[in-house]
Amino acid sequence: MDFDELEEKLSDLKMYAEENFIPIIRDKSAKFLYDFVKDNGFRNVLEIGTAIGYSGSIILSAGAESLTTIEIRKESFEMAKKTFSELSLLDRVDMYLGDAKDVIADLCCANKKYDMIFLDGAKGQYIHYLPSLTKLLDVDGVIFADNVLLQGMVEKEGKIPHRKRTMVVNLRKYLEVVGEYPYNTTLIKMEDGIAITRYKGE
Ligand SMILES: C[S@@+](CC[C@H](N)C(=O)[O-])C[C@H]1O[C@@H](n2cnc3c(N)ncnc32)[C@H](O)[C@@H]1O
Repeated sequence: MDFDELEEKLSDLKMYAEENFIPIIRDKSAKFLYDFVKDNGFRNVLEIGTAIGYSGSIILSAGAESLTTIEIRKESFEMAKKTFSELSLLDRVDMYLGDAKDVIADLCCANKKYDMIFLDGAKGQYIHYLPSLTKLLDVDGVIFADNVLLQGMVEKEGKIPHRKRTMVVNLRKYLEVVGEYPYNTTLIKMEDGIAITRYKGE
């Protein structure tokens, strides 16, 4: 299925997200994600932050064989299951309802490996997840992290609104750490900012 066809199929879901204030990947970033998965031929993808299955459907429709995805909100989790089912994708998805921190730890214990991780859960947690996510990545695997510029606040100098401060500080740390060995990162200043991080191995 090409991206235009997929967008058409996902239009009601996107409208549902807008009406219910559920944040999903933005339009240009969604197309970029689709092309990125397709062009690199990623096979086994881990997603942190399922929401209602919008980005997961994009990843699978772009050609990934399997998607493991984690969501903490039961209502979103159930809606995502419905989405995957309606698009006949459910048999390629491993869905976890729970805190990503715990599920990631379980996946590490089970020695799971992925060639791509779509990091789109709580923004202040990216830096805390990184060591465990690295264990889950194949060498040369990629972390695609969305919203790393947080409406421009991550690169802006000066005062940050109090309630965003931890998120901004932690995203800055994340970008700093993935900017150095054993990572190789490209920052894409599109929409809310995407960091593409390739893990070069130990
Ligand atoms: C930006 S939304 C994900 C959007 C989705 N990837 C998409 O583009 O369609 C972030 C999601 O992460 C979930 N989330 C937040 N904290 C989490 C946690 N600690 N563990 C698992 N999921 C979490 C939220 O409930 C929310 O659904």
